[in-house]
Amino acid sequence: MKIDGTPYRSVWVNEQDGWSVHIFDQTRLPWAVDVLRLTDVAAAAHAIRAMQVRGAPLIGAVAAYGLCLALRADPGSAAMERDAALLAATRPTAVNLQWALDRMLARLRPLEPRARVAAAYAEAAAIADEDVAMCAAIGRHGIELITGLAKPGRTVNILTHCNAGWLATVDWGTALAPIYMAHDQGIDLHVWVDETRPRNQGALLTAFELGSHGVRHTVIADNAGGHLMQHGMVDLVIVGTDRTTRIGDVANKIGTYLKALAAHDNGVPFWVAVPSSTIDWTIADGVREIPIEERASSEVTTISGRAMDGNITTVRIAPTGSPGANPAFDVTPSRLVTGLITERGRCAASESGLLGLFPERA
Ligand code: MRU
Repeated sequence: MKIDGTPYRSVWVNEQDGWSVHIFDQTRLPWAVDVLRLTDVAAAAHAIRAMQVRGAPLIGAVAAYGLCLALRADPGSAAMERDAALLAATRPTAVNLQWALDRMLARLRPLEPRARVAAAYAEAAAIADEDVAMCAAIGRHGIELITGLAKPGRTVNILTHCNAGWLATVDWGTALAPIYMAHDQGIDLHVWVDETRPRNQGALLTAFELGSHGVRHTVIADNAGGHLMQHGMVDLVIVGTDRTTRIGDVANKIGTYLKALAAHDNGVPFWVAVPSSTIDWTIADGVREIPIEERASSEVTTISGRAMDGNITTVRIAPTGSPGANPAFDVTPSRLVTGLITERGRCAASESGLLGLFPERA
């Protein structure tokens, strides 16, 4: 996708040196477009933990490149296993992280240490390229959900939560890919962007992405979605996912479940964009089995933004001494999900629906 007309991916290898890894510092967006250069595994782990990169597919790709950086320092087996574990421990909910590292280790373990660095970069590049292809395919399979609602003289209103756009993936995004493609085809659409407290990925990142691409959008308080649905102002909800179980339960950014309940109550279709790298085939009951990341309470008791003097600043919004709690994800049971959009097509949010598209997992 483009920023000021220049095409970017959200992670890439430095073309000059051929090994260091670039990312955007997403903690600074949209106020500053800062590109960071990662040169060791500690920096890659920090980038994921501190959410300089975030979004399930992107943290998988950055972890893969983080392992490449680790192997440059020490390609031995003990160090490789230790550094993979360090990267895996950075964030618990999105399964792409472990998926990408498992894939890297499966490729690298059988190799002699001296052959590992080149093989690791090739595998990380394949993970990144495949993510772009998966997201583009999700866009193609999801676009009909939007074009099917389009009528002359009528805007299609779509609500989304958090950021499941190109900043959350290597390119295109998951939930936003069908939106970008429908917009590019000239469909009259408008996106309600949940601000997504506590870290405001919607207000900061999704609004930035949609604005950069010229997509009409409005940022709303997280609590506004139910009201908009009751008044016929939402035609369709599309969200991403950090982990989807084999029966179609979906973990996504905290607050997604409440949107699904409101959508169900109001007969609004609720679709989830799911690259197969986000499916955890080993579990079924998402509410009981998906680990939910608990983040610092300061993300709830404070808020950051750009002050009127232009400086990025953090202010406290709860009384000093009031504790905060910060579960970062929730699980939407499959019964509330209208359907899943995968790179192989759309399906019901159920075991049979998923196995229909991925029969090799039966
Ligand atoms: O905590 P984050 O910002 O990493 O959470 C991201 C989300 O919940 C996204 O909606 C999800 O990863 C889907 S990304 C394609």
